[in-house]
Amino acid sequence: MTTETKQQRIGIFDSGVGGLTVLRELYKQLPNESILYFGDTARLPYGTRTSAEILQFVYEILEWLIGKEVKMVLMACNTSSALALDKVKSEFNIPILGLIVPGANAAVERGKRIGVIATPATAASDAYRRAILEADPFVQVWQVGCPYFVPLIEQNQLHDPYTYQIAQEYLAPLLQQHIDTLVYGCTHYPYLEPILRSLLPSSVELVDPAISLVKVVAKELEMLNLQNYKQPKPTEFVVTGSPQKFAELSLQWLGYTPIVQKVSLPAVLGQALSI
Ligand code: DGL
Repeated sequence: MTTETKQQRIGIFDSGVGGLTVLRELYKQLPNESILYFGDTARLPYGTRTSAEILQFVYEILEWLIGKEVKMVLMACNTSSALALDKVKSEFNIPILGLIVPGANAAVERGKRIGVIATPATAASDAYRRAILEADPFVQVWQVGCPYFVPLIEQNQLHDPYTYQIAQEYLAPLLQQHIDTLVYGCTHYPYLEPILRSLLPSSVELVDPAISLVKVVAKELEMLNLQNYKQPKPTEFVVTGSPQKFAELSLQWLGYTPIVQKVSLPAVLGQALSI
């Protein structure tokens, strides 16, 4: 592989700030890689969209990222990974990776009674249950769709008592089943860790699929001889909604205020015009 190809960026996308939990993991495990981050904030949340809409968004974003000559794409979004990855993976000629299988593999290493909290679309797709049972048919899986979490996080209401109350409601059926493991089935949810920890017995293991995904990315880069050993470029952030809002919200998780550009995908423009 040429040095030039190795230096190309990894494109990662999410509906909003959730993908930053994957970005942080990339910084930790693969500090030499340059990243292009795409947040489709004009159309979030994805988790209450139909599968046809999600597939359409994923196509648009992939086209856009590939147009920027990324060497690999990570779906830093479980909803897209659950509903679109299998379909699109073979249609593009660059590696595209998602969170479900790495998350499922990590979960079965930890426990036998596995709870998954996810967006309604991810929970309804049953993707986690299938992947977990494929990894280990002898575990039990309970999935809960959590429609309010992403809007609350995107509105920066993490410390609102209402968020705690909602979390209590979502966890109740899982606590009833005495889960020993809880999977963050949405990349936004690791931000809820303090709340979730306070509601769960301390013996319950929390699984962040981003950690396992990035391990898979490291192996894949090595296998394809695509690792960058040169100095990485600064991360570029683009969003379809308000760059300022994204930058302000991200500060608490990135530790710096990112420079964020607004981009328009053709369909986003079309959607805005049709309102
Ligand atoms: N963070 C994404 C996920 O992992 C999308 C959440 C949403 O927009 O509903 O599913």
